[in-house]
Amino acid sequence: MKRLVILISGRGSNMQAIAEACARERWPARIAAVIASRPGAAGLAWAEARGIPTRALDHRAHADRAVFDAELARSIDELGGDGQGHGPDLVVLAGFMRILGADFVRRYAGRLINIHPSLLPSFAGLHTHQRAIDAGCVLAGATVHLVTPELDHGPIVAQAAVPVLPGDDAASLSDRVLGAEHLIYPRALRWWVEGQLEVQGLRVRHIGSEPQWLIAPQVE
Ligand code: GRF
Repeated sequence: MKRLVILISGRGSNMQAIAEACARERWPARIAAVIASRPGAAGLAWAEARGIPTRALDHRAHADRAVFDAELARSIDELGGDGQGHGPDLVVLAGFMRILGADFVRRYAGRLINIHPSLLPSFAGLHTHQRAIDAGCVLAGATVHLVTPELDHGPIVAQAAVPVLPGDDAASLSDRVLGAEHLIYPRALRWWVEGQLEVQGLRVRHIGSEPQWLIAPQVE
């Protein structure tokens, strides 16, 4: 069984989609812990109610990024470890709104994965939906990628596209993209835990040729 640790900052809807798919599809994996960067993160209560070990680290209570990252790594390895010095098999960023330093990223290299709410490499960073609308995009979406020290630029595992509709604002587009996130993130993680992904440089291939893209016009 692979041990997954999920990092969140807020409501945790991706975390829920992942935990539910893990149970329903009987992945060879378990959610070892959910860790939040904010004590009040709504997703923590959902995880606790299901018996998943949780922890909240208040990033504001740490002197700087390096201290926070070190404390976060300690919690990840403690809650997600095998008790014999090995940390978790995979650290899953699911709406984790903290930039992680290069040392942290290197420590979990190859076992750190993120979902970003844009079709990368377009719109790395924040405010992706408004920026897609302002740029006149007719497609928006989300990207699951392995994390490298360069923000939002690691090898792409899967992407989902949804339309940008004429009356959209950032909130309505965000809702539509989120629906697609809930489909592709669990799918990509299942591939990872089942060992079905091959990484060569920036290119990631599903060895069984399952489509790594999803066009989801009706997702709500
Ligand atoms: C998602 O859109 C994710 O892509 C972004 O933040 C949002 C988190 O939503 N990074 P949730 O906490 O998973 O509901």
